[in-house]
Amino acid sequence: MGNKIGINSIYKIGICFSIVMTMSVTMLNAQNLIKGKKIFETRCLVCHQADGGGVPNMNPPLDGSTGVNGKDIVRMVKIVTNGLDERVALDGMYYNNAMTANPDLKADAIADVLSYIRNSWSNKAGLVTVAQVNAALLKNKSKKK
Ligand code: HEC
Repeated sequence: MGNKIGINSIYKIGICFSIVMTMSVTMLNAQNLIKGKKIFETRCLVCHQADGGGVPNMNPPLDGSTGVNGKDIVRMVKIVTNGLDERVALDGMYYNNAMTANPDLKADAIADVLSYIRNSWSNKAGLVTVAQVNAALLKNKSKKK
């Protein structure tokens, strides 16, 4: 019995494996973005609008927002869970409306909706993982009072 599995086949198997892995990761991400879109449509669209453009003086745009595209995932998670009524300047503008809280959203749903808003319209920021959201939820909890 000769060795039928040459180095070539091992390479081929390796390449196939990488392709399948990449495809499933891509498909998973697409799935999460679809879920995120649904959450956005039911919970966020009414204020931030379908095009992420917001409503002048009332609700800030998420499209092109420094915060949404930035690295502070802890702040993003906090805003989604607790809502926001700080009237702080967002990209130099103030908004009169108060954002409603979403205390019932689970970590995976928060990850999906954040991934969606960070990768929609002109936004091209990184996806947010469930692990990142869980870490942020813990951090925000310990900061309370
Ligand atoms: C009732 C209207 C309303 C709804 C619904 C709403 N928001 Fe908001 N959102 C606001 C307002 C108003 C602000 C700014 C509040 C302030 O300045 O104090 C804001 C701020 C934000 C910010 C900060 C933006 C920045 O530039 O840093 C993010 C992120 C955000 N919202 C995401 C969401 C997501 C995701 C949802 C859905 C889960 C959602 N919002 C639902 C009104 C809303």
